[in-house]
Amino acid sequence: MKRVLLLLSVALLLSSDHTASAFAAKPAHGAGSVQEKKLVIGFSQCTVKEPWRVEFNKRLAAHARAKYPNVQLDILDADDRTELQVAQVRSFIRRGVDAILISPKEAAGLTGVVREASEAGIPVIVLDRDVNYKDYPCFVGGDNKLIGRAAGKVAIDMLGGPGKARGVIYEICGGLASTPAQERRDGFHEIVEKEQGIKLIGGLDGDWKKDKAHSIMQDALKANPEIDLLYAHNDPMAHGAYQAAKAAGRHEELKFIGIDALPNEGLRWVRSGELTATLLYPTPGEVGLDLAMKILAGEKVDRRVTLPTRVFTKENVARGGEEVKLGGG
Ligand code: FRU
Repeated sequence: MKRVLLLLSVALLLSSDHTASAFAAKPAHGAGSVQEKKLVIGFSQCTVKEPWRVEFNKRLAAHARAKYPNVQLDILDADDRTELQVAQVRSFIRRGVDAILISPKEAAGLTGVVREASEAGIPVIVLDRDVNYKDYPCFVGGDNKLIGRAAGKVAIDMLGGPGKARGVIYEICGGLASTPAQERRDGFHEIVEKEQGIKLIGGLDGDWKKDKAHSIMQDALKANPEIDLLYAHNDPMAHGAYQAAKAAGRHEELKFIGIDALPNEGLRWVRSGELTATLLYPTPGEVGLDLAMKILAGEKVDRRVTLPTRVFTKENVARGGEEVKLGGG
């Protein structure tokens, strides 16, 4: 695990966008350095209905306690509702918090309020899912286009290799109003659509939820006598689809690819053979909080910090998976 963390931090150093942010935060109020004075940071988390979000909050809260005892970190759950998330950010603005972290439910609906906070002079750090307004100081998240492409390569290898792959792929998307779902779809399509022997079907919005993916897959199995591989934009949905295929007695005909690779979810399912592969999507909270503190200290930060990914299969999971190279356009 230590090795994985080390690799992650090395890759992180290599992957930042070195255009420093032009955003100049107002110095945090009160006397003393940001390490000493009492600071309030608000975080609006889009939902805690999924394990990845629960882990994200847990790691962030632990990091805040361990590293920034002077910070009061207020974590709010927006319960998968855009209007509630907008109201939460507005309440942070009204309270005049020192910085805002947000992991938006979707792009369009949260764009306005990120702008409002920025125009009120509060530094906003956007985590994991982006918005359409770009004049906030810093985004932290995975490279979802790259993850989509890497998933596409894994799928093609499993179905016979580039130029020779054959079969039907069924895709279940995350919430398509969010940037990770759009990018995971686009990256995957870019690779898979080059293959003459592959038919790519599906593409319904499963809103990242296991139960929705389960029912989408039930219908897909009825409508399609042949499906060779299932690609879902996260592990809960891939596992929901696996369970639907199992109930229909067809799970052994298919390969299942998901994303997130949480130790107790995706990685466990890869070990047990329920999922064929998963790709790491690190939670961005700790890096996001460190960047908020740098901004409050008046330091320049990179505009975009990209977290690395790894691919895990049954063969490589015991040795920590395999690195997926960043970049690639
Ligand atoms: C959790 C989640 C993760 C996924 C991420 C994408 O809400 O669905 O499973 O990787 O959001 O934003």
